[in-house]
Amino acid sequence: MLRTHTCGELKVSDKDKTVAICGWVSTIRDHGGVLFIDLRDRYGITQVLFNPKIDKLLHDEAQKLGNEYVIRIKGIVKERPQGTENKNISTGGIEIEASRLEVLNSAEPPIFEISDDSALSEDLRYKYRYLDLRRPRMQKSMLFRHKFFKATRDYMEGHDFMDVETPILTKSTPEGARDYLVPSRLAQGKFFALPQSPQLFKQILMVGGIDRYFQIAKCFRDEDLRADRQPEFTQLDIEMSFIEEEDIFSLIEGLLLKVFRDTLKVNLEIPFPRLSYAEAIKRFGTDKPDIRFGLELTDLTEIAGDCDFKVFKDASAAGIVKGLAIKDKGSFSRSRIDSLTEYVKTLGAKGLAYFKVENNKLTGPIAKFFDDQVQKAIMDKTGASDGDILFFIADEAKRANYILDDLRRKLAAEEKLIDKSIFKFLWITEFPLFAYNAEEKRWESEHHPFTAPHSDDIKGMEENLGRIRSRSYDIVLNGTEIGSGSIRIHNQDLQKRIFKIIGIDDASAEKKFGFLTKAFKYGAPPHGGIALGLDRLIAIITGCDSIRDVIAFPKTQRAVCMLTDAPSEVEKEQLNELGLKISAGSGPAIGGKK
Ligand code: AMO
Ligand code: AMP
Repeated sequence: MLRTHTCGELKVSDKDKTVAICGWVSTIRDHGGVLFIDLRDRYGITQVLFNPKIDKLLHDEAQKLGNEYVIRIKGIVKERPQGTENKNISTGGIEIEASRLEVLNSAEPPIFEISDDSALSEDLRYKYRYLDLRRPRMQKSMLFRHKFFKATRDYMEGHDFMDVETPILTKSTPEGARDYLVPSRLAQGKFFALPQSPQLFKQILMVGGIDRYFQIAKCFRDEDLRADRQPEFTQLDIEMSFIEEEDIFSLIEGLLLKVFRDTLKVNLEIPFPRLSYAEAIKRFGTDKPDIRFGLELTDLTEIAGDCDFKVFKDASAAGIVKGLAIKDKGSFSRSRIDSLTEYVKTLGAKGLAYFKVENNKLTGPIAKFFDDQVQKAIMDKTGASDGDILFFIADEAKRANYILDDLRRKLAAEEKLIDKSIFKFLWITEFPLFAYNAEEKRWESEHHPFTAPHSDDIKGMEENLGRIRSRSYDIVLNGTEIGSGSIRIHNQDLQKRIFKIIGIDDASAEKKFGFLTKAFKYGAPPHGGIALGLDRLIAIITGCDSIRDVIAFPKTQRAVCMLTDAPSEVEKEQLNELGLKISAGSGPAIGGKK
C-alpha cells in the first residue's frame, strides 16, 4: 500500500504513529531552515515538516520539490506546538515529521493557482481541466454531484424504480432542438441521431411492463448555448404506469426532500406550491417565476381605459397595461429611472411609465393624466402606499409580460430582495397544449406531441387550439425550469388527432414515430413521467452561476471541448468509409482533409 492515511484524516489522537501519505505539493515554506510542505489530496491538507537538524539529507531533497509534484511521505505524527495549530483544516492539530520522501512524479509549474478559487478565464480552466478539477470549488462540486446522484439512486430504488439504459445511437426524438447526427458506415447515406432525451424509449418501456423506470441519462441537443444549457447534459429521467399528475408531484417532492436532507441538511417544505400557467403569467409574467421575493405584477388594463394618458388608453384597447409597486427607500433618482427606461427599451419596450406615491397621491410626469378616482383605483389594485414607486409597461401582452418579468428580477436583485440561502420550488401546471409558430404559420406542441390534453378540453379541440390546456407540468426552482414532464397520450386515435393538428400526416407519423404508435397497439397502459435537468439543479444548489461548473468536462459556449479539441477534422479515409464528402465552405469550422 502506498499510503496508510489520506491527507485529510490524521488527528492529535494519532500522535506518535508512523504513517505514509501521498498527494500533491500544495505549498512549500522555508522557515529559517525548517521546511514545511502542505500536502494535498481529495480529502484535505496535511503539513509535513523537514528538519535539517534531524535529517539534513532529507531536508535538502525536499528543497528540490516543486509545486504540484506528486510525492509519498513517511514519517511520525507530531502534535503541533501550542499556538501553531490551524483551526481552518481538519488536520490542523498535527504535522508529520518526515523520515522518508519519495517523488512519485515531478510536475511542470501549474498554469494557475490551485489552492484558491480565484477567477480565471473559462478557456484556460477547460483546457487544463485536470488542474481546475484539483481546485477546492471543483472538488466540492464534483463530490456534491456524486452524493446527489447516490441519494437519488437510493430513493428511486426504494420506490420500486428500475434503472434501464436506453440507446445512444437512435432515431430523432421530438424535443424540438436540432439533432446531433452520426453517419452509418454499414448503411451509407443513413444516420443515427443522438437522443435529445429517452422520451420514446421510456414510453415503450411502459408498454413493455417495466411499470416504473428511471435513468440518469445523457441527452444531446444542438441548440444555442447559454449558462444553463449544454449540448450534452444529464437528466433524471422517469416514467411511471397507472398514475396521474399528483403521483409524479409527490414522488419528486419526496425525492427532493430526501436529497436536500441527505446532501445539504436542509428541510424543504412540501408539498410545493402549484400554479397554473395562466396564473403564473398573470402574477409574474413568466412560466418560471422566482418566488423568493414578492413584487407581483398587477394588471391595470381595465382601469387604464379611464385615464387620459394616450399610451395607456391605446394599450387598454389593443394590449395590456401591467406593472409593479416597489418600496422607494430614496434610491429611485431621476437618473436611475432614466437608466431603467433605457434598459427596458433594450428588451423591446417603448417606454417605462412610473408614479411615486406621496401623501396618498400619485406624482410624477404622467400623474396629471389620471384623475383622483383613477389614481385611487390604481393604488387599491396595486396595494401601493406612501413611499412606493410604481412602474408600468403598456404593450402587446406577450411583450409586456416578457419585459416585466425581466424588470421584476432586475429590481429584486438591485434592491437586494432575494434571500440567496433559500430554495423555492413550485409546480407550473396546465400549460397550453399547442403554441402557434408565427414564422412557419403552423401550430406545434408546446411540450412534445405525446402530451395528453386536459380531459375537459378534448371535445371540439380543433376549434380552439390556442385554448387547449395540456396535462404537462414544469418544476421551477428559484426562477429556473429544472424539470418538465407530462401525462402521455395512450390512445391511438387521440394521438393521430394531435399529429394531424401539428401537421404530421399519417405517412410522416409512421416514418418518424411508427415504432411507438405500433407499440401502442399492443396494450399501452396509461402513463406519464418527468425529466429533471440535474446539471441545472445541482448548479443552483451549489450556488454556481453556470452549469459548466458542475460538469467535469463541459463544452464552451461555442460547443467546443477545449481539453480534447473536439469536434475535430477526420481522416479522408474515415469520410470515404462513411460515404461522406465535405463540400467547400459548407459549414463552420469542420472540414475533412481534401
Ligand atoms: P425537457 O426538454 O423539458 O423535457 O427537458 C427536461 C429538463 O432538462 C433540462 N434541460 C437542459 N439542461 C441543460 N442543457 C440543456 N441543453 C437542456 N435542455 C433541457 C431542463 C429541462 O427542464 N422528455 C422530456 C421530459 C418528459 O416529458 O418526461 C424532456 O426532455 O432542466
Ligand atoms: P412620452 O409621452 O412618449 O414622452 O412618454 C411619457 C412617459 O411614458 C415616459 O416616461 C415613457 O417612458 C412612458 N412610456 C411611453 N410609452 C410607454 C409604454 N408603451 N409603456 C409604458 N410606458 C411608456
